[in-house]
Amino acid sequence: MAGANWVAASGGRFTPQSSGCGVCHIGSLPAPPEPGKPATVTQAQTVDCLVCHAKTYDWRRRSTLVRDASGLHWGEDTSLTAALSVTRVPTNAACLRCHEHAFSYDYKRGTPFTPANDVHAKAGLRCVTCHVTEHHKIAKGLYESDMVANDLPDVAVSCTRCHGPSPHTGRTGAILNAHIRRLACQTCHIPRVSGIVYENWGRPVRDDARGPYSAISKYDRIPSIRGAFVPTVRIHRGTPSYMWRVPNTQDQPQAQNWMALATAQRSTRGARIFPVRALTQVLLVDRTRKMWQAPRMAFMKDDSRTADFPLLLAPNRAVYNRTGNVTHAIAAGMKALGVPWSGQWMAMRMPGTSYISVNHGVRRHGLACAACHSAHGVMDFKALGYSPRQVRQLERPEKAGRVDAGARLWR
Ligand code: HEC
Ligand code: HEC
Ligand code: HEC
Ligand code: HEC
Ligand code: HEC
Ligand code: HEC
Ligand code: HEC
Repeated sequence: MAGANWVAASGGRFTPQSSGCGVCHIGSLPAPPEPGKPATVTQAQTVDCLVCHAKTYDWRRRSTLVRDASGLHWGEDTSLTAALSVTRVPTNAACLRCHEHAFSYDYKRGTPFTPANDVHAKAGLRCVTCHVTEHHKIAKGLYESDMVANDLPDVAVSCTRCHGPSPHTGRTGAILNAHIRRLACQTCHIPRVSGIVYENWGRPVRDDARGPYSAISKYDRIPSIRGAFVPTVRIHRGTPSYMWRVPNTQDQPQAQNWMALATAQRSTRGARIFPVRALTQVLLVDRTRKMWQAPRMAFMKDDSRTADFPLLLAPNRAVYNRTGNVTHAIAAGMKALGVPWSGQWMAMRMPGTSYISVNHGVRRHGLACAACHSAHGVMDFKALGYSPRQVRQLERPEKAGRVDAGARLWR
C-alpha cells in the first residue's frame, strides 16, 4: 500500500481519499524507505523539522507534490513565517497535524484529543508530558500492538505515573481501586469510541453519502471530493469492545503480537481488561499468485502456515477514488510497485481480527457500576472467560452496588 500510494494524489494534492502516505510518514522522500533498514543520512535529511516545531505551518505546502532532482515527493513549509514560529517543545496542534486522523471521529480510533472529549486536553496537558521523549525518540508505551516501531521499549506511558495506584477516594473509592488489578484505567474512563470496524476494498462506493468522512481534519482543512470512490466501511459509534492484554515485554509469551491479534486470556498472568476497537478487513488478493512470489517474501514459502497465503494487491488510491474500478486501481498500484500480478483479483477477509487500542478521550466520570454489572452491560463476561456461575454473579447489580469500602474482588 505504501509503495503504491506514497505520492498518490488527486491532481497533485493530498486528499483524505488519496491517503498519500508520505504526507505523514514523515520524510520528504520519493518512495518509502525499506522496512527494517535504518535511514541513510540522505533520507534522514529529508525529515521535515518544522511540521513538528513550527507553531505556524501551512499544511497546504506539505500536501502539494513537488518535483526536483530527487524525484516526485511531498512538499514542506520552509517559509520564514514557519521558521520564526519555532517552539522547543512541539505544540499539541503540531502533533495532531498527522495524528488527528488517527484520533478523529470516523477514522482510526475515534477518540479525539479535544477539550470537550478528553480531561487532559481540557487541562492543557501536552502530548509529550505523557509520551516522554529522549533525543527525538517518543515513548509509545508497552501496551500498543500495532506495526509501529517502539522508539523507547523500556518506557511505559501509564496513568498511574501521575495518579498513583489508588486514585479513587470517597464512598466507592475502595471498590474502584480494587478493580485496577484486573481492569485498565481506560476501560472505565473511555466509555465511548467511534470509527471503522469493517472495511471492504472489493466493493467501492461513492462517497457522497458519507460526506464528513472525507473531510475529517480540523488542521489541514482539506475539502472532500464529492463522488470519489472509497471502500465500503462500517462505522461503529458507541462502547468499545474489551479484551485481556499484557504488556509487550520480552518475558511475556502472551504479548499482543503484530496487528494486535488477541492472545492473552483471563488466566494469563498479569492480564487486565482493556478497551479496544475490533477491525475486520476485506483486502484485495491475487487469485493465483502467492505472497512468497513477491520480492523479499520468499521466506513465506518455507513455513506451511504462510506458504499458501495469496499475494496481497495494492490498489493505487488516486485511480480507485477517481474511477471506482478495482482492476484499474490494482493495475496502476502493482505497476508502481514493480510487482507482477496475474490480472485476476478477489476480495478476501483477512484471518483474525485486529484490535486497535484506545487511550485518549478520557472522561472525568468513569463508568457506573451498573454499566458493567447488569444483564445487558457493556462487557460480554462470558466471552471474557468467566464461568457461568461467575457471569451470574457479575451481572447482579444489586449485589455489586451493596459492596462496602474495603471490599475485595476475586483472587
Ligand atoms: C494523515 C496522516 C497519515 C497518512 C496520510 C497516512 N498515515 Fe499511516 N499512520 C499515521 C500515524 C500518525 C500513525 C501512527 C499512530 C497511529 O497508528 O495512531 C500511522 C500508522 C500507520 C501504520 C501502522 C498502523 C497499525 O495499526 O499497525 C501503517 C501500516 C500505516 N500507517 C500505513 C499507512 C499507509 C500505507 C498510508 C497510505 C495509504 C498511510 N499510512 C497514510 C498517519 C498517517
Ligand atoms: C515528530 C516531531 C518532531 C520532529 C519531526 C522534529 N522534532 Fe525536534 N523535538 C521534538 C520533541 C518532542 C522534542 C522534545 C521536547 C521535550 O520533550 O522537551 C524536540 C526537541 C528538539 C530540540 C531541543 C532539544 C533540547 O535538548 O532542548 C531541538 C534543537 C530540535 N528538536 C531540533 C529538531 C530538528 C533540527 C529537527 C529536524 C531535523 C527536528 N527537531 C524534528 C519533536 C520533533
Ligand atoms: C509529520 C507527521 C507526524 C507528526 C507531526 C507527528 N507524528 Fe507521531 N507518528 C507519525 C507516524 C507516521 C508514526 C508511525 C511511525 C512508524 O511507522 O513507525 C508516528 C508514531 C507515533 C507514536 C507511536 C504510535 C504507536 O501507535 O505506537 C507516538 C506515541 C507519536 N507518534 C507521538 C507523536 C507526538 C507526541 C508528536 C508531536 C511531538 C508527533 N507524534 C508528531 C507521524 C507524525
Ligand atoms: C494523559 C496522558 C496522555 C496524553 C496527554 C496523550 N497521550 Fe497518547 N497515549 C497515552 C497512553 C496511556 C497511551 C497507551 C500507552 C500504552 O499502550 O502503553 C497512549 C497512546 C498513544 C498512541 C498510540 C495509539 C493510540 O492512540 O492508542 C499515540 C499515537 C498517541 N498516544 C499519541 C498522542 C498524541 C499525538 C497526543 C497529543 C495530541 C497524546 N498522545 C496525548 C496517554 C496520553
Ligand atoms: C502526566 C501526568 C498524567 C498522566 C500520565 C495521566 N493523567 Fe489524568 N490527569 C492529569 C492532570 C494534570 C489532570 C487534571 C487535574 C485537574 O484538573 O484537577 C488529570 C485529570 C484526570 C481525570 C479527571 C480528574 C478530575 O478530578 O477531574 C481523570 C479521570 C484522569 N486524569 C484519568 C487518567 C487516565 C485514565 C490516565 C491514563 C490513560 C491518565 N489520567 C494519565 C495528569 C495525568
Ligand atoms: C471500575 C471502573 C474504574 C476503573 C477501573 C478506574 N476508574 Fe477512575 N473513576 C471511576 C468512577 C466511576 C469515577 C467517578 C467517581 C466519583 O465521581 O465519585 C472515577 C474517578 C476518577 C478520578 C477522579 C478522582 C475521584 O476520586 O473521583 C480519577 C483521577 C481517576 N478516576 C483515575 C483513574 C485511574 C488513574 C485509574 C487506573 C489506575 C482508574 N481511574 C480506574 C471508575 C473507574
Ligand atoms: C467497566 C466494567 C466495570 C465497572 C464499571 C465496575 N465493575 Fe465491578 N467488576 C468488573 C469485572 C470485569 C469484575 C471481575 C474482576 C475479576 O476478574 O476479578 C468485577 C468484579 C467486581 C466485584 C467482585 C465480584 C463479585 O460479584 O463479588 C464486585 C463486588 C464489583 N465488581 C463491584 C463493583 C462496583 C460496586 C462498581 C461500581 C462502583 C463496579 N464493580 C464497577 C467490571 C466492572
